[in-house]
Amino acid sequence: MCGIFAYLNYRVTRTRREIYETLVNGLLRLEYRGYDSAGVAVDGPKKTDTDNNKNTTYIFKTKGKVKALDEELYKKDSLDLDEELNIHFGIAHTRWATHGEPSSVNSHPHRSNKENDFVVVHNGIITNYKELKAYLINKGYEFESETDTEVIPKLTKYVYDNRENDSITFSTLVERVIQQLEGAFALVFKSRHFPSEAVSTRRGSPLLIGVRSEQELTTDNIPIQYNANLKDGVEEKNSHNRPNDSNAINSVGDGQPVEYYFASDASAIIEHTNKVLYLEDNDLAVVTGGKLSIHRLSHEVGENPVRAIQTLQMELQQIMKGNFDAFMQKEIFEQPESVFNTMRGRICFDTNTVILGGLKDHLKEIKRCRRLIVIGCGTSYHAAVATRQILEELTELSVMVELASDFLDRNTPVFRDDVCFFISQSGETADTLMALRYCKGQGALTVGITNTVGSSICRETDCGVHINAGPEIGVASTKAYTSQFVALTMFGLMMSEDRLSLQQRRLEIIEGFRVLPDLIRKVLALDQKIKLIADELYEQKSLLVMGRGFHYATCLEGALKIKEITYMHSEGILAGELKHGPLALIDKDMPVIMIIMRDACYTKCQNALQQVTARSGRPIILCCQDDPEISQMAYHTIELPHTVDCLQGILSVIPLQLLSFHLAVLRGYDVDFPRNLAKSVTVE
Ligand code: F6R
Repeated sequence: MCGIFAYLNYRVTRTRREIYETLVNGLLRLEYRGYDSAGVAVDGPKKTDTDNNKNTTYIFKTKGKVKALDEELYKKDSLDLDEELNIHFGIAHTRWATHGEPSSVNSHPHRSNKENDFVVVHNGIITNYKELKAYLINKGYEFESETDTEVIPKLTKYVYDNRENDSITFSTLVERVIQQLEGAFALVFKSRHFPSEAVSTRRGSPLLIGVRSEQELTTDNIPIQYNANLKDGVEEKNSHNRPNDSNAINSVGDGQPVEYYFASDASAIIEHTNKVLYLEDNDLAVVTGGKLSIHRLSHEVGENPVRAIQTLQMELQQIMKGNFDAFMQKEIFEQPESVFNTMRGRICFDTNTVILGGLKDHLKEIKRCRRLIVIGCGTSYHAAVATRQILEELTELSVMVELASDFLDRNTPVFRDDVCFFISQSGETADTLMALRYCKGQGALTVGITNTVGSSICRETDCGVHINAGPEIGVASTKAYTSQFVALTMFGLMMSEDRLSLQQRRLEIIEGFRVLPDLIRKVLALDQKIKLIADELYEQKSLLVMGRGFHYATCLEGALKIKEITYMHSEGILAGELKHGPLALIDKDMPVIMIIMRDACYTKCQNALQQVTARSGRPIILCCQDDPEISQMAYHTIELPHTVDCLQGILSVIPLQLLSFHLAVLRGYDVDFPRNLAKSVTVE
């Protein structure tokens, strides 16, 4: 949705220029989350003559991409870029508009007043902002933006101005503010009243903190201060609530030189440090005097008393574009490796066994369930559609696939003996997360299939599978889809291990998995041919994609890729529905892509092809190699290597990913930043 980045250097000397560069680079890494405007808040020069020697805060904001902000930062001649700052805290944000159009005034950081006493960056949505705004307007506060976020700094100032005594701490202040907020948020606060202090918190939106220190960190676990119960100026230590008080002497920072990086996701942090701490909902992370501590605003009995500092395994080059023109293109071409990584350590090709470590302890329970409900949005939903048939076959259970938003709208009945799967690349999609909470509330076992370690869906599900596809930066999901496909099919294999009647089927699928990376490479080798087809199609307005059986999901996913990055109208059509309406669209001018593979639907697909060509349609056909019957009826063919029917959809989707990429480039669009979209949709 939006991207938060913040950087605090404590007793580590950085020039103002270096600080700007760090902030801007952090935003560039997060730009895929939102890119209609960006902003930063940094320290300005100290006011010495007035205002009691207080710090000043400067805010820079621009409409458009981060590059525009970067240019703006260096225009301002009032700040000395070479000035060395031993301690400094800067916050930054890249926005994807929800409340108010993309503009500089609506972009973050938002401020409490003209003097910038409190400034805030926010990811998420404040659902009760109208009530809060009305209250604050009534108290004389003037609002400048149309956003929900602006109530937060204004409310902070209101609480500050009405404090009972002068020694109120920054964290107490923030705690009081967030008690009033409804909705979802990750927030980072900066204040000139609390120079070099940082307060951040989350509820429903991701936030993590990277820690870089010359010293060995004094602990890998940070003790949580339960029931922070903060009183003005006095943070109660609450040792009675802390199960292992010996942890209390441990902390991060402890007066030593240290740097902290706050971000919405790890890709903005990894170039600085691989030591990170993921905040959980209702955590309040506070840096004071260079020392990081975590307060818990509400907690459940028996919860872990510490937040672990984790070591990220991600490499910087994993999130760089390398020789490719776009992240999406890079990610399409990574698929031989990403699907291999999904299988690695899970499928043993010598013994033909499949073990998903995250599910094995729950297998008995899953086998006893009444039905599987597989829930997701967009591409992740399509992965569920793609694997439904093989899951039904291998698990011998009834499998429902559901769009999370529709599932919630219907208040779908869910029972204790249901097992609900939540498919999400980001692990943060609001609709999917809400559906998860709903199913949990009904007592169902919940399983996450995610690509983001530490994400909300990852943490809130009872068990799950990490798809290990590596960071996906391109807004259009590609490698996550094929890895979700692989993960769900592996789950089917694991469930059917002891079914004698299914052994032959299992062996052919496992063999299909063994050769899958090589077959994907062969499909990727068709790139130039697909580019030539794109050259012919790119000026069209519409593109239909038709197929059935195992390839219906490919049609839906291919059409989604085309519409989201080329802005052409595109529809995925179930070939069985052709004569129930869509046939009316067919004539010699309507571009149609058909998927006709040698599987159980082959003859039926041939019938659909006849119907299309009888109406002068000129189909581009994705088919198996050496299929003259099909090729002779095609306007163009894209011949794919053959694999087992239930995995063929992994191969058939790749030409459509490539086609959408080339179409978007030819139409002059920014592939990685499609208009109106964002990578991680953390609002309903
Ligand atoms: C399309 C796309 C979206 C996402 C959807 C769910 O290319 O990326 O349709 O698939 O927003 O996102 P996740 O998988 O992160 O839950």
